[in-house]
Amino acid sequence: MNAHQSLAIGQPIERCEAISPAAAEPDAMVRFASISKTYPAYRGKPGVNALQNIDFAIPRGSITGVIGRSGAGKSSLVRLINGLEKPTTGRVVVDGRDISALAGRELRLAQRSIGMIFQHFNLLSSRTAADNIALPLEIAGWAKADIKARVTELLALVGIADKHDRYPSELSGGQKQRVGIARALATRPSVLLSDEATSALDPQTTRAILDLLANINRELGVTIVLITHEMSVVRQLARDVVVLDAGHVVESGHVADIFTHPKHPITQSFLAEVTGDSLPVSLASRIVAEPSAAGQAVIRLQVRGAGVGDTLVARLARELGLDVSLLAARIDEIGGQHVGSLVLGIPLGISGGEDAVARTLAFLSQHQFSAEHLGYVA
Ligand SMILES: Nc1ncnc2c1ncn2[C@@H]1O[C@H](COP(=O)(O)OP(=O)(O)OP(=O)(O)O)[C@@H](O)[C@H]1O
Ligand SMILES: [Mg+2]
Repeated sequence: MNAHQSLAIGQPIERCEAISPAAAEPDAMVRFASISKTYPAYRGKPGVNALQNIDFAIPRGSITGVIGRSGAGKSSLVRLINGLEKPTTGRVVVDGRDISALAGRELRLAQRSIGMIFQHFNLLSSRTAADNIALPLEIAGWAKADIKARVTELLALVGIADKHDRYPSELSGGQKQRVGIARALATRPSVLLSDEATSALDPQTTRAILDLLANINRELGVTIVLITHEMSVVRQLARDVVVLDAGHVVESGHVADIFTHPKHPITQSFLAEVTGDSLPVSLASRIVAEPSAAGQAVIRLQVRGAGVGDTLVARLARELGLDVSLLAARIDEIGGQHVGSLVLGIPLGISGGEDAVARTLAFLSQHQFSAEHLGYVA
């Protein structure tokens, strides 16, 4: 039985399917099959193995986050999806077509169904918002009247209908990215690639742009591939996540699974950035390394599903005979599920001291919660 189901009584927990291996995923929008990418040596500079053994599929209609440190290979991965780079080995299949095998006109036609947005927007400063959005339509040979109507529609879609005649220098960062998004969507792509598209924006604008991307995914059904080095971006928007490190996929799956059970140290360090603040300062400042007779041991664990916290405290009390208290809790909605962390206080004096900590950790581990003993409070 699923441990979370057994604990979250009365709370149905959705089963999460991890991103499937490429071969077993029938409805993939993007499929990487045995991909490697080596940039050749030149002018005395050594070659770079940017990607190795990449095998995964991005489900049609999903929002998939690709997260990794600088140099992990994220941009190389997106450039393979839109055919700007060719893989050294393997195939990249986009919407049923092997994009890595296309060239010339065929490639340019295929690229119309793959939109892309960038960290620094890449707008033409000499063109108005409307004319920037019109550019891919002009290249695709649309008629003037059709372009005009489509651009008006796109400006409204991204919420800047009033910026039609503004030049990039007259727009805020968020407005510029809205132009970038409208331009990327102009030719009605089935995939939208976002390479650090919110990295140059403040947190509030980032949130607004991520909300816009969520709407586009929901309303237009566009598959979104979100490249980022920030777990908070993945948390807000993505359902699936792929963690890249040094050119390898080190972990992939449903965001809610990865957030509750990160396996790889890289994933854990990304998560620490977003969940590190789950310990209130007032509590963190009281935690010490040595137990005291009437004090409590402090244990933090990751949970999933609404109501898990209360049920867990009740079960610890009932099954282990421990008078556990909830010192802090933080629950977020991640990947459409409630995910968070709980901080439990295990009383040492009346419940058997260190033995209580060991029994609690064993109980949590047995039920597949990742838990850590942070120390003690008096
Ligand atoms: N055109 C290129 N020629 C040679 N090496 C390259 C090229 N593009 C990328 N690389 C190298 O490949 C590796 C992966 O780079 P990539 O740009 O894909 O990483 P990234 O994850 O997007 O990093 P960042 O977060 O800094 O954007 C790095 O070691 C990089 O130096
Ligand atoms: Mg990059």
